[in-house]
Amino acid sequence: MARRSAGSWERPGTGCRHDDEAVVDDSPYPSRYGRNSWIRNKLGGKGYAAHAVTLAGSFLVKDFVALHMTWGAINELTTLTAYHRLIARTHHPVLKDMLERIIKDERRHFAFYRAQARIRLARSPRPRRMVRWAVDHVWAVVGTGVRPQSETDHVVTMLFGGADGLRATREMQDVVRALPGMRGTRFLERARAEALQRRHAAAARSSAVRTLPSPPGERPSAMPFAALRSG
Ligand SMILES: [Fe+2]
Repeated sequence: MARRSAGSWERPGTGCRHDDEAVVDDSPYPSRYGRNSWIRNKLGGKGYAAHAVTLAGSFLVKDFVALHMTWGAINELTTLTAYHRLIARTHHPVLKDMLERIIKDERRHFAFYRAQARIRLARSPRPRRMVRWAVDHVWAVVGTGVRPQSETDHVVTMLFGGADGLRATREMQDVVRALPGMRGTRFLERARAEALQRRHAAAARSSAVRTLPSPPGERPSAMPFAALRSG
């Protein structure tokens, strides 16, 4: 796994210089400030549009709140489980302590969403059908569409790729399956498998590019790797 540094940089308008930030793998957006700016720019009006769609959905679709609560429960559960997985992979005491504190908060969020989802899904078959269809066909790992797919796949592979990760994924899936109408659903296991597949395919493409012969007298160009990063 490649390690590199973002270097020192200055926050515009503040005169403040920030320390180097070590970055793992090949993320093209290594600095916190640079990355946040990039995400905000990329997001543009999408954030407001998402709020507008949520408002319109809750007005027009009778069972929309059941969907919103189930969606929220799934995202809170995956987030707090990801933090647990990160704790299992780090030896950094401050990071561990910080994640444990965040997890306490996320558990409260999850408990609220799950309780609401359970009540609303239990009311009648209609919300159950609609929500089940949505999680099976539309749900994607939180953050998808905002950051590059390769980054989401990297996070999923790193935290949920191994045997412990598979166990954690199955445990999350069982928790969701316990909600009314969700028996037998496999969307989390499928999302994990698809992320792993894309990651392996990207690694295979990357090693194929690395083994391309260079023209005589030339060093291999860095360009193909730059192109792969943005994919
Ligand atoms: Fe949360």
